[in-house]
Amino acid sequence: MVSIDRKHPCALCEACTLRLRPYVPDLPITDAELIFIGDAPGEEDVIKGKPFAGQSGKLLAQAISKAGGTPAKVSRHNAVACRPPDNRAPTSEEIACCAPRLKDELLRQDAAVKIIALGKTPSELLLKWSDEDTDMKMTERMGRWWAWDNRKWMSTWHPAYVLRMPSEAPQLLTHIKRAIDTTSADAVTEEPQVVHANTFEELVAICNRVQDDTWVAFDIETDQVNWYDRPDYIKDSIIAFGFAWKITFGVAVNPDLMYDDERVVPFLNGFMARVKLAAHNGKFDCIFLRTGMNLRVRPDFDFDTMLAHYALDETPGKQGLKGIAFEEFGIPNYEERIISQYLRSRNDYYSKIPYDKLTLYMIWDVTVTLRLRELFEQRLRATKLALNPNASLYEWPFINLLMPAQAPLAQVEIRGLHVNKPYLEGWRDRLI
Ligand code: URA
Repeated sequence: MVSIDRKHPCALCEACTLRLRPYVPDLPITDAELIFIGDAPGEEDVIKGKPFAGQSGKLLAQAISKAGGTPAKVSRHNAVACRPPDNRAPTSEEIACCAPRLKDELLRQDAAVKIIALGKTPSELLLKWSDEDTDMKMTERMGRWWAWDNRKWMSTWHPAYVLRMPSEAPQLLTHIKRAIDTTSADAVTEEPQVVHANTFEELVAICNRVQDDTWVAFDIETDQVNWYDRPDYIKDSIIAFGFAWKITFGVAVNPDLMYDDERVVPFLNGFMARVKLAAHNGKFDCIFLRTGMNLRVRPDFDFDTMLAHYALDETPGKQGLKGIAFEEFGIPNYEERIISQYLRSRNDYYSKIPYDKLTLYMIWDVTVTLRLRELFEQRLRATKLALNPNASLYEWPFINLLMPAQAPLAQVEIRGLHVNKPYLEGWRDRLI
């Protein structure tokens, strides 16, 4: 074989089909704010001798500025450092030959700097290095934190794709903002403790440790989500009730106690009225607790992390707690780990799950909700409104619109909605 000089000491140029193509070295920056990885250099990048010098680089720089970052302070890398012919994507063999070079470049940088993989090629490579499923769809892998060699990385759309699909620009921006956001939390690995309240006296002793106006996250587990059609089933429908005011542990109140000891519900009503309540999709829990157990949890409880997430990111289908827990804190899906093996499907009866597993799962939910409450309040307050810089997303739409809407919407769900058919039909006649 003809000996070939390596363009980079770690690149396997001798085995690579791109070995005679133009080489554009990566552009690492000392004290970088962020690290970006693209797929391969483009035409203008070759002319200017640096990555992301063309149109997609311009869009990337705009997005970084708009997200509050400094384009000059980001490191720019590529999965493959030589330009493939005819503007084609690099092949898996070419990516494999260049991967040791990229790894070497990335490992030279501070492990605390977050990495963003732009598009399919670099995100597939990093998923592989992180021992994750490389077949995952782009929409599933994007915008959430993954861990590789103690470094946090996420993937998002490639700016070249956004140039063709401008409707994806807001998502690119959201992801870069998330990476720049210093409130972005560190990974959580420790399992929370479950404290069981099995007697009224234990419950009172625990609740007395909580000062007035403390933030308390609560959650229930129900056997099935629809019990309205089977009123005789109410007693069995709430099979666990839990709350947490610390992130390291939560309290599981024995459901038999709640149904059978008549002092418990009035006591919990007093407790929940003197603290500040947070929940994830709490309207669901409130409806069950009020109708099933006469626990007067206010449907206008104080903070819903699902609504807060929605105010920050309207992307449909992304408001689930497990996905957010993974995205924000790197917590692997505890639903799969703790309870999925007991269920045939997500609609199966939760009473099949052993109580200790169910309560551990519930306490994960409440401790994650408590963490998210604080994080999302900071983030909502930090996002000023374009038309009124004195107000933030926290005021509009979160506290003044979305949260107060809980109470009337819960009433609609409990009582139904009266539709005045003749009146509406009258309007149809008038409109036609
Ligand atoms: N320029 C680069 O350097 N990389 C890309 O992925 C696209 C353009």
